[in-house]
Amino acid sequence: MATVVKSSSYQTQDLISEDIDAYLEQHQHKTLLRFITCGSVDDGKSTLIGRLLYDSKMIFEDQLAALESDSKRIGTQGQNIDFALLVDGLAAEREQGITIDVAYRFFATEKRKFIVADTPGHEQYTRNMVTGASTADLAVILVDARKGLLTQTRRHSYLAHLIGIRNIVLAVNKMDLIDYDQARYDAIVEDYKAFAASIGIAAFTPIPISGFVGDNITSRSENTPWHFGPVLMDHLETVELDLTTARAERFRMPVQWVNRPNLDFRGFSGLIAAGTIRPGDTVRVLPSGRTSTVGRIVTKNGDLTSAVAGQSVTLTLNDEIDCSRGDVLSIADNPPEVADQFEATIVWMADEAMLPGRSYWLKLATQTVTASVHAPKYQVNVNTMEHLAAKTLELNAIGVVNLQTERPIIFESYDANRTLGGFILVDKMTNATVAAGMIHFALRRAQNVHWQALDVTRDKHASLKNQKPAVLWFTGLSGAGKSTIANLVEKKLVHMNRHTFLLDGDNIRHGLNRDLGFTDADRVENIRRVGEVAKLMTDAGLVVITAFISPFRAERQMVREMMGSGEFIEVHIDTPLADAEARDVKGLYKKARSGDLANFTGIDSPYEAPVRPEIRIDTTLLTAEQAADLIVEELLK
Ligand code: ADX
Repeated sequence: MATVVKSSSYQTQDLISEDIDAYLEQHQHKTLLRFITCGSVDDGKSTLIGRLLYDSKMIFEDQLAALESDSKRIGTQGQNIDFALLVDGLAAEREQGITIDVAYRFFATEKRKFIVADTPGHEQYTRNMVTGASTADLAVILVDARKGLLTQTRRHSYLAHLIGIRNIVLAVNKMDLIDYDQARYDAIVEDYKAFAASIGIAAFTPIPISGFVGDNITSRSENTPWHFGPVLMDHLETVELDLTTARAERFRMPVQWVNRPNLDFRGFSGLIAAGTIRPGDTVRVLPSGRTSTVGRIVTKNGDLTSAVAGQSVTLTLNDEIDCSRGDVLSIADNPPEVADQFEATIVWMADEAMLPGRSYWLKLATQTVTASVHAPKYQVNVNTMEHLAAKTLELNAIGVVNLQTERPIIFESYDANRTLGGFILVDKMTNATVAAGMIHFALRRAQNVHWQALDVTRDKHASLKNQKPAVLWFTGLSGAGKSTIANLVEKKLVHMNRHTFLLDGDNIRHGLNRDLGFTDADRVENIRRVGEVAKLMTDAGLVVITAFISPFRAERQMVREMMGSGEFIEVHIDTPLADAEARDVKGLYKKARSGDLANFTGIDSPYEAPVRPEIRIDTTLLTAEQAADLIVEELLK
């Protein structure tokens, strides 16, 4: 008999995490199937989930009473309870008639326990579906028997497949409304078969159901004597789990932390992503490539003689070799690859569009590295699967991109291993997750380009010039006085026999960066290139002065991180917008105000002032000459 889970009211059917723990504990001995249901607004998704919960006796008595009275109040006909009310609990959702966000629900039967992610059907919620699907073993794609395949059916199937779900159930719902017409059902299944093949879905399980009446949900329906396939619940209870498959694969464990309570014990803790491990097995530590053998498999319930995918364990190794968080323990032969450039599919999940060239955190298993994404190779229209040209990816867009990480990471293709092939991108400033990604393969060029060691070092260059290289990075509005002050600073430094070079926005945009305009993406690329050039010039031993608006904190931070400690000196030329506009030396503010010049900084394009610049010049208090003296003094301090 299924156990009832505590839940405060049917309006908040989702459990709080303590409940989840208690619940999972009760059902510890059972395997867990995670699945998602996908359908559009009227496909009867909520009714189906409500029915599954109800039939597995997962509803509290008082919830049931509330449900019955609610059904009456809302005027559901007949004695069939409106199961949709059970799931569409939130009042706002009921009013809108749509389900937003991902809701996870739990239920159990004699054989298995289940977590079902209920994801909304609307196109703008691709983000939610990807979130809900990311851990699922199986997807139930709901189709209304009266309507057949819809655009949403294709989109959901594509996304489910993309995210790596290999078990697809095609639930043809509302069979009662087409009088259990077998020919109609067969036609829908045929349509789906053709579509599935076109996107690479090799197999799926079709089931004719009625969530409302209960046909083929938990028991075989007499209304469909021609259906010889499984009923839904049986299928959910017996389908092979991804974990079972993963256990048969090669051993991989991303190291979460090094467990070192005292000098006598050093263990490597993590969740086994694939395969099986036993004491005595030879393992390889990546990226170093060193090998050793497993000593003990330690868990909080004692040592084990073997451990498999899905288990959290601490492994000890028989040799003292380096291994730290972010490394991966693997079977010795056939280890995962290590690279720093990839092709991947990306689902963009942030309101702000992707900025090619911007640095994001990339998190893959237990590794976190700085990464940047190139402009998309193409975007995929999720309704038609067409490839479209794209310069960026907006919220909910899916595209194929190349990306590069600041240092090599350990990975596998997403197809081979969801844990080591799936990643997220995180905004460095806001810490929000902006994208989910799936690695296809490493780019060859990454493996074939090596770093050449040079004999004349950067220190040698600097000492010949008898100076400490640095970058004076000027930032501020157009017309703030950056170029004027930078020019004075350079003259003063040269007068003191310093070797300098001034990189100025307007000038660089005539040459190196003449292909760039003033969109956010172009400004990111502008600063990335200038950062690289400034870095090379400091390697050559120079004191570099740059004068660019450089409106975004993220890119200034990126350049800062490229330089050695203390070598990046951010100089904010802080001029009120009104003053810069009043001066309007180049007449650009006037043009921007009249609408003749788009994306002008301070007018219709943002300027993010530095929070803690090394030097701030308030131009309402200092003359250019005074400002230059102050900057030189700070530099030479
Ligand atoms: S940045 O934003 O990418 O750092 P950069 O400093 O290279 O800009 O170039 C700014 C200069 O380009 C300005 O001083 C101005 O002379 C000129 N300019 C032309 N169009 C624009 C615009 N839309 N916004 C800002 N500056 C512009």
